[in-house]
Amino acid sequence: MTAIFLSFLLINLIHPSFSSDTLSPNKPLSDGQTLVSAGGTFALGFFSPTNISKNRYVGIWYNNIPVQTFVWVANRRHPVPEASTGVLTFDTNGSLVLTTMQNSTSILWSSSPTNMKTPVAQLLDNGNFVVRHSDEATKHVAWQSFDHPTDTLLPGMKLGWDLTTGLNRNLTSWKSTEDPSPGDYSVSIDIRGDPQLVVSFGSVRKWRYGPWTGLGFNSIPEMVSYTRTGFSFDLVNNNKEIYYSYEISNRSIITRMVVNQTGKAERYVWMGQHGWSLFWYTPRTQCTGLSCGPNGVCALYRWPKCRCLQGFEPKSPGEWGLIDGSGGCVRKQPLDCQNRTDRFLKIAAAQLPDTWSSFVDRRMGLDECRARCLMNCSCTAYANADVRGGGSGCILWFSDLAGLGLLESGQDLYVRLAASEFGHALITHHHKHENEMREEDIELPLFDLSLIHEATNNFAAENKLGQGGFGPVYMGKLRDGVEIAVKRLSKTSKQGIDEFKNEVMLITKLQHRNLVKLLGCCIQVDERMLIYEYMPNKSLDAFLFGQFLSSCSWFFV
Ligand SMILES: *[C@@H]1O[C@H](CO)[C@@H](O)[C@H](O)[C@H]1NC(C)=O
Ligand SMILES: *[C@@H]1O[C@H](CO)[C@@H](O)[C@H](O)[C@H]1NC(C)=O
Ligand SMILES: *[C@@H]1O[C@H](CO)[C@@H](O)[C@H](O)[C@H]1NC(C)=O
Ligand SMILES: *[C@@H]1O[C@H](CO)[C@@H](O)[C@H](O)[C@H]1NC(C)=O
Ligand SMILES: *[C@@H]1O[C@H](CO)[C@@H](O)[C@H](O)[C@H]1NC(C)=O
Ligand SMILES: *[C@@H]1O[C@H](CO)[C@@H](O)[C@H](O)[C@H]1NC(C)=O
Ligand SMILES: *[C@@H]1O[C@H](CO)[C@@H](O)[C@H](O)[C@H]1NC(C)=O
Ligand SMILES: *[C@@H]1O[C@H](CO)[C@@H](O)[C@H](O)[C@H]1NC(C)=O
Ligand SMILES: *[C@@H]1O[C@H](CO)[C@@H](O)[C@H](O)[C@H]1NC(C)=O
Repeated sequence: MTAIFLSFLLINLIHPSFSSDTLSPNKPLSDGQTLVSAGGTFALGFFSPTNISKNRYVGIWYNNIPVQTFVWVANRRHPVPEASTGVLTFDTNGSLVLTTMQNSTSILWSSSPTNMKTPVAQLLDNGNFVVRHSDEATKHVAWQSFDHPTDTLLPGMKLGWDLTTGLNRNLTSWKSTEDPSPGDYSVSIDIRGDPQLVVSFGSVRKWRYGPWTGLGFNSIPEMVSYTRTGFSFDLVNNNKEIYYSYEISNRSIITRMVVNQTGKAERYVWMGQHGWSLFWYTPRTQCTGLSCGPNGVCALYRWPKCRCLQGFEPKSPGEWGLIDGSGGCVRKQPLDCQNRTDRFLKIAAAQLPDTWSSFVDRRMGLDECRARCLMNCSCTAYANADVRGGGSGCILWFSDLAGLGLLESGQDLYVRLAASEFGHALITHHHKHENEMREEDIELPLFDLSLIHEATNNFAAENKLGQGGFGPVYMGKLRDGVEIAVKRLSKTSKQGIDEFKNEVMLITKLQHRNLVKLLGCCIQVDERMLIYEYMPNKSLDAFLFGQFLSSCSWFFV
């Protein structure tokens, strides 16, 4: 085998100049040769980052610009030593391997085994280096450099996760301009809670750019305006994949995103004779981290930039004279969850708090989101998950809020506070808009019909708890595990929507906490439903003929 391998190698050494985009088992690539993609955009070959060191690396660079700019490095950890000559070839298992002419058993780098008898590796015009079957009809890509990024994200590359294989694509800076080995900073997608773009220093999260709002990452509001320059951004988030990627409408514009040695993500655009132009970078501000501590708010336009959230005070008094408020803030007035009197403070243009431990439901509306937050005593804030089309979806935060900031533009965040924190504002508001206030005083959360269908398995017969004069009662389970009882009012009921709403408000007012809790209602199409918290120990009668209902039974004729 080795003999055959060497003879192929010799043939290639005699004819070293092949300008092809493809490498195969009988056509390895040795130092001095390059692959060039079909359209001439990218080249792959051996290089030394400087002339100080003669260490050799296999990398990909732009073929048609005069400044050699590397977008990918294969053997970043293990360079070909100065005295050896590198060879990129296939092993018997169909893995691409980097070895040396001097010692073919020393493997400096390899791709994963593909178990293909006749593999080829092809450099594509988008900068991707793919291993596939030599029969071009077989579209299956067995391995690709795009799945193993270095420090650069090219248009169409994915930054993030393949959830089925567990592949995590992140960018890691070069150690220095002379040394492509992995540096301290990496950019990745943190998929816990609501996925966020984060920059880590080693294994410590240093900066976070918040969750995806539908248009961009929450803490990078300028992403929205960049789409006008021909860029488009996307976060794919389904049960198979969670990744970020970008595109440029005019593919003849040369652009790349790179993470540098100080952890900055930079976007460059090639400007012909003017060279690379730094188009954008982040972070630009000192509010990008988690710097103000729990329940602190970061705002650049003031000094000190860290303050406590309204309704909170410094945990250690005096500490706020310092810029670093890492001790954070604590609540002035305890929440009153049992009596359900808590209210929400709206923070406009918020840099959303850390979402790594938050709960997300993309189908819930804001009203239901608020109701769900009130229901759970450890819920401290809520917001829409998607800002498009007036807002949709629900993010719930539990316990302390970290990394909250104020932006010039952004979305609304609702922070839970004790009612007493609102005292004055409530009274003035009350006088001005009496009717509005009444609506607000009574929580009347509306649940989406599709969620109720899902929770009750489409009102499955086995979920039916019983039947009262007004209609059947079903048991159900919301997505976050909360158990509910749904009273579905009979369609023969003659009530109009307004009457129904008024009744529900009245019930809510009359509601005593010893009774079964009414969580909300659902009025959609011709359905009218009341949604209660399900308590297994309460007798069915509590749901069917709750005290308030029997005393107010004239409501439901
Ligand atoms: C590398 O070599 C080139 C040409 O020999 C020279 O112009 C350049 O200054 C050298 N660079 C370094 C970093 O030594
Ligand atoms: C091929 O794969 C087998 C099984 O995984 C392994 O034992 C062997 O070392 C591999 N051969 C090469 C040349 O990598
Ligand atoms: C070739 O490389 C292998 C693995 O690195 C090493 O064990 C062996 O000693 C090397 N052989 C020579 C002749 O240098
Ligand atoms: C980046 O990816 C590598 C390989 O999957 C993984 O080991 C590492 O933990 C990742 N780093 C971050 C910050 O996600
Ligand atoms: C695409 O970009 C190239 C290079 O900047 C430019 O010459 C060309 O006119 C652009 N094409 C379109 C359709 O905008
Ligand atoms: C990293 O990027 C930032 C922002 O573009 C820049 O100010 C800084 O000089 C860069 N650092 C290095 C080492 O390239
Ligand atoms: C709930 O309300 C009752 C009666 O108004 C009051 O005595 C009690 O302190 C309240 N509970 C909390 C936790 O504030
Ligand atoms: C509140 O939400 C948290 C986090 O989702 C959960 O662990 C807890 O069980 C919930 N509590 C109630 C009473 O639903
Ligand atoms: C339900 O009743 C059983 C038996 O009386 C008791 O052990 C259990 O703690 C009760 N559960 C709740 C949630 O009240």
